[in-house]
Amino acid sequence: MAADRRSKADTLALRQRLISSSCRLFFPEDPVKIVRAQGQYMYDEQGAEYIDCINNVAHVGHCHPVVVRAAHEQNQVLNTNSRYLHDNIVDYAQRLSETLPEPLCVFYFLNSGSEANDLALRLARHYTGHQDVVVLDHAYHGHLSSLIDISPYKFRNLDGQKEWVHVAPLPDTYRGPYREDHPNPAVAYANEVKRVVSSAQEKGRKIAAFFAESLPSVGGQIIPPAGYFSQVAEHIHKAGGVFVADEIQVGFGRVGKHFWAFQLQGKDFVPDIVTMGKSIGNGHPVACVATTQPVARAFEATGVEYFNTFGGSPVSCAVGLAVLNVLEKEQLQAHATSVGSFLMELLRQQKIKHPIVGDVSLPRRHRGVGLFIGVDLIKDEATRTPATEEAAYLVSRLKENYVLLSTDGPGRNILKFKPPMCFSLDNARQVVAKLDAILTDMEEKVRSCQTLRLQL
Ligand SMILES: Cc1ncc(COP(=O)(O)O)c(C=O)c1O
Repeated sequence: MAADRRSKADTLALRQRLISSSCRLFFPEDPVKIVRAQGQYMYDEQGAEYIDCINNVAHVGHCHPVVVRAAHEQNQVLNTNSRYLHDNIVDYAQRLSETLPEPLCVFYFLNSGSEANDLALRLARHYTGHQDVVVLDHAYHGHLSSLIDISPYKFRNLDGQKEWVHVAPLPDTYRGPYREDHPNPAVAYANEVKRVVSSAQEKGRKIAAFFAESLPSVGGQIIPPAGYFSQVAEHIHKAGGVFVADEIQVGFGRVGKHFWAFQLQGKDFVPDIVTMGKSIGNGHPVACVATTQPVARAFEATGVEYFNTFGGSPVSCAVGLAVLNVLEKEQLQAHATSVGSFLMELLRQQKIKHPIVGDVSLPRRHRGVGLFIGVDLIKDEATRTPATEEAAYLVSRLKENYVLLSTDGPGRNILKFKPPMCFSLDNARQVVAKLDAILTDMEEKVRSCQTLRLQL
């Protein structure tokens, strides 16, 4: 392939000339040119192997042969839109319905997480007859205009908050207003949503939906306190709205204990709408909205067709089915639990050793579950000031050591671990050993500077 033969410098120069700089690269000061990937590994143009801790989209592993074969075989037979009767779409919907609570039994197939959230917004508005949305601070729900409007992570840097959008605090028990020492952070944070709803209603606004990632990722790998979603759902339902659980980053067994991250909130909690994307197709553009009969019926009552040219095609559904088959056959959900717990334990040891590691796990809560883990880097324990520059430095040093990791959170100081689900115990050991060595080196450098300063 010509692209593989172009030098890295030439590729970069062409990219800078032809591709908008709004489309950013990882490691902009020294981007990696990746030419192939397999499982949890990515390879650059020189053949160097990187451990991938970033790609939750390559859910069952990069280029998984079962998924690649399923796409190829279906492509050889038929790929067309969902207006023709075909088994793949119904087989796939049936398989997905087996993973979800019973009320979530109507499916729409689309091509991206953004399309899924945009449809969720339309469904919510038709069902409730209301327009407004409550979202969590720092949330990101997609790149369409409608979703930028409900993504504080984006709209705060653009033209600001629309009058139909209401922002509730992130239920972050490490950095938010109610922390690990609060007797009931779930109720306290849910009451914040209630307050936001009441204040909107006082202005004559009507709530159509509450949107939340089941585990806020861009917000900093947050695990909302158990029971929070049920309490929020109560307030939102009372206001006439519906609860939308965005599982685009965290669904499909990543949390280990459950197939869906919203299930961490307890058996009784069932969202009105669930949106899926990213990992659903292991890199193939597939997305899905699951909802209840009443919500779907309200949308159908408009008489307007929902047509999506590529959504639910035989190939997309074959890919989706293959991902479910691999998850099951390779028992990747259980694997996420065991490897994730092991990785968290190794990271906890780093917290004891290095003061910069603020939060991996605290006695009453965890900053990770399964293969969704955050490491909150701090400048000092008392203020919990985000160690932003240190986090950026660490990520670039890890890349030099062939580990691909990224940061997130409002302070861009949270190291995010969301690797492909085949990430191994050995990978966990290797990554944490490298992290340990770099942190030790950073501390040594700081100590030498301090000694030098004292001598001067
Ligand atoms: C939580 C969440 N929702 C929605 C989206 C949008 O998905 P897509 O980029 O497939 O449109 C993203 C993408 O990063 C996301 O993280």
